[in-house]
Amino acid sequence: MKKAEGPIAETARGRERTALSDRKHGEERPALRKGLRFMITVETSLKSGPVTSSSPGDDQRSLRAFIQKECGIKMPPAKRVMLEARLQKRLRALGITTLKDYREYLLTDAGRNGELIHCIDAVTTNKTDFFREPSHFDYLAAQALPSLIDAGAGRERKRITVWSAGCSTGEEPYTLAMVLSEFAETRPGFDFKVLATDISTRALEKAWLAVYDRERAAPIPEKLKAKYLLRSKDSSKNLVRIAPWIREKVAFQRLNFMEDRFSIRDKIDVIFCRNVIIYFDRPTQEQLMNKFCRHLGPGGYLFLGHSETIHNMDVPLVATAPTIYRRPQ
Ligand SMILES: C[S@@+](CC[C@H](N)C(=O)[O-])C[C@H]1O[C@@H](n2cnc3c(N)ncnc32)[C@H](O)[C@@H]1O
Repeated sequence: MKKAEGPIAETARGRERTALSDRKHGEERPALRKGLRFMITVETSLKSGPVTSSSPGDDQRSLRAFIQKECGIKMPPAKRVMLEARLQKRLRALGITTLKDYREYLLTDAGRNGELIHCIDAVTTNKTDFFREPSHFDYLAAQALPSLIDAGAGRERKRITVWSAGCSTGEEPYTLAMVLSEFAETRPGFDFKVLATDISTRALEKAWLAVYDRERAAPIPEKLKAKYLLRSKDSSKNLVRIAPWIREKVAFQRLNFMEDRFSIRDKIDVIFCRNVIIYFDRPTQEQLMNKFCRHLGPGGYLFLGHSETIHNMDVPLVATAPTIYRRPQ
């Protein structure tokens, strides 16, 4: 597993040093793009000319198998049309005409080091929302956090680390940071950190920027909007940005769940991995759950999406509420 690099891995204090300003959202993109250049090496042309494939069906199949192996996302034949549509832009950008050539390119050094990221960006589904599946945040504040910090008779734990695993464009980790910040106001001395990871650099770039259309912020309760959102000074832009005192609680890192080992040093108290494993086959789901358990401390919680389950998996977790699991103490 590659170690997190560049500004994506920094906390917000580091980000402020990269000359980002809250004043004009529009001015921030170039600085961010410059900072992210290490990840996005775009190879724009291919020297070899187009090669006609003898069997487009086989090419599709092997490309789908390749993608599933790289990022775990199930690629059944039913996804054929979707895959071709999503990759069209990439093929055009590279001047490639067939999926066979595209797959071969992905196997070259330039493909592995540059194009693979774009390919993964194209095939991942990043749908998310602030306060998505809100009962999870109620459970976190009312049950999980008190139980975690009161665990161990008299030894109150003051610092909690929560991992948004598959954080997409940031709505989930920032929701967590707001909920944890509200909780901190009721418990003097309590502190927290949110680790947010995703495989998609495009999603991480947006998450790190923390700028959203105002409509996207609609699910955030008014009281929290007033505390944790900054409005764009230019009212025609209709944008909001997460306030720095919330951004600085969230550290972003690129991480592929298919890696054997995750470069995460903290013991994690709570993992939110919601609406991610639904895209994986069952053996991949089970392997991932076991990898999570290596990082989850005793008594730690795992939250899955409402249509996901670990039922009948060989994983050291017990169900404590629908789609919420816990590692035994
Ligand atoms: C539908 S979004 C879910 C976002 C958020 N957790 C939620 O529930 O709103 C799924 C996310 O999982 C990420 N993902 C898919 N495969 C992954 C992998 N192999 N490693 C890490 N993240 C992955 C995608 O990039 C995407 O951002």
